[in-house]
Amino acid sequence: MKQLFAFGVAIVLVICLYKSWGNPTGAKLTLGIAAGENELDANPERSRYVVDRDADGEGTVRRRVEVALRRHPPVGEEAGGAEVGSKDGHIDEVHQAKQQILALERKIQELEGRIPRKYPDVTFLNYKNRKRILITGGAGFVGSHLVDYLMMQGHELIVVDNFFTGRKRNVEHWLGHENFELIHHDIVNPLFIEVDEIYHLASPASPPHYMYNPVKTIKTNTLGTINMLGLAKRVGAKVLIASTSEVYGDPDVHPQPETYWGHVNPIGPRACYDEGKRVAETLAYAYAKQENVNVRVARIFNTYGPRMHMNDGRVVSNFIIQALQNQSITMYGSGKQTRSFQYVSDLVDGLVALMASNYTLPVNLGNPVERTIEEFAVIIRDSVGCKSKIVELPAVEDDPQRRKPDIARAKRYLDWEPRVPLKEGLIKTIEYFRKELARSNHSQRNIFVPETTEKK
Ligand SMILES: NC(=O)c1ccc[n+]([C@@H]2O[C@H](COP(=O)([O-])OP(=O)(O)OC[C@H]3O[C@@H](n4cnc5c(N)ncnc54)[C@H](O)[C@@H]3O)[C@@H](O)[C@H]2O)c1
Repeated sequence: MKQLFAFGVAIVLVICLYKSWGNPTGAKLTLGIAAGENELDANPERSRYVVDRDADGEGTVRRRVEVALRRHPPVGEEAGGAEVGSKDGHIDEVHQAKQQILALERKIQELEGRIPRKYPDVTFLNYKNRKRILITGGAGFVGSHLVDYLMMQGHELIVVDNFFTGRKRNVEHWLGHENFELIHHDIVNPLFIEVDEIYHLASPASPPHYMYNPVKTIKTNTLGTINMLGLAKRVGAKVLIASTSEVYGDPDVHPQPETYWGHVNPIGPRACYDEGKRVAETLAYAYAKQENVNVRVARIFNTYGPRMHMNDGRVVSNFIIQALQNQSITMYGSGKQTRSFQYVSDLVDGLVALMASNYTLPVNLGNPVERTIEEFAVIIRDSVGCKSKIVELPAVEDDPQRRKPDIARAKRYLDWEPRVPLKEGLIKTIEYFRKELARSNHSQRNIFVPETTEKK
């Protein structure tokens, strides 16, 4: 009730202030800076009362503030004096109005902050059915969607992330929820917690990110994976390793079944990631064989959707951002190389199904609908509705020429296949990027408001 009352007061305040800008004679009034009450007593015509919150924020007080009454002639009247209606006067007035709007916005934001947070309505699971689940890299693109899914199912989630490529914003809607915990931790260091299941997703996933610090990428995928497998062994948890289609390298078998051993350059620029993931798989099966750890391995193919990084250099995000800004859409190479993209919700369904299954060998999770990069460029341009040119840039070293998963295993053992059509997924993703680009300062929701939050 208190919060609602406070919110009501803020609204009344807004209306009062706006009303104070007009007067019965049709002249405009401007509210100036507050002055001391004693001084104002001596100049009653310069002052007026406003209703404001008291220092505790519990009630309202009447406060006398200085009012600078500047008269501007009603429309159609002649300007009377040097100051009245002058250009400087208008600029001053606009500036003051902007300051007041900013102050009001801050006040409303502060009051909103006092309203108890509302969370999505999660399913209630009793103690027997509720699992405690760890997601490493849960503040990243895929991880945050998996968090949403498992939270809605009613499980307890612990997200561990070092925020290298992940963002708190991706999971902020769960912060404070009784089933959710976010731990800032680098999985290269051991972690001691009690969990039933581990989705091990922590690793940079896009080429610019994993090439930024190749040694760290290798450490995350090797030492980090050892730490997670060690944790799974200690607490008896089931662990799912997020591997990648990159373990197939630049494949000479097409489409790629899980039985294909791959064609990877071990010293190329992508090797830190490709080989890192291959070792992660090897580690998983070594722990399974030697330590009886219950492992699952998902070989994830290209995935797209909201919360992808704006500048992760991957095809979908690159093309969408270029198209939204009416810039040329740039393809590396001829554009004849193929990719297949799955929407993120399909991947999340696949990961959950794999974890729940009894199948322990690697499983491809991807969309088998294959398209050339050039086709993607055209589809994205049409979906955005722009007139961007499509241009070719020099090909990238070790860029795979063909990528298409054979998903027979996933169909057979998980009863899984992608369901979201490309156009549908693209519309949601384009919408997401449109909003991201519209954010003026990248943190629209987090305006720093020290003066109003401090108690006076
Ligand atoms: N998105 C795809 O198309 C794709 C394709 C194949 C495989 N994968 C795999 O899926 C997983 C998730 O990928 P994503 O697209 O969400 O990437 P992402 O970069 O958005 O998320 C990775 C997360 O891991 C975190 N992280 C990285 N190193 C860490 C460390 N040392 N300790 C703790 N946290 C760390 C990052 O901060 C980030 O939140 C990755 O393992 C990736 O290899 C993704």
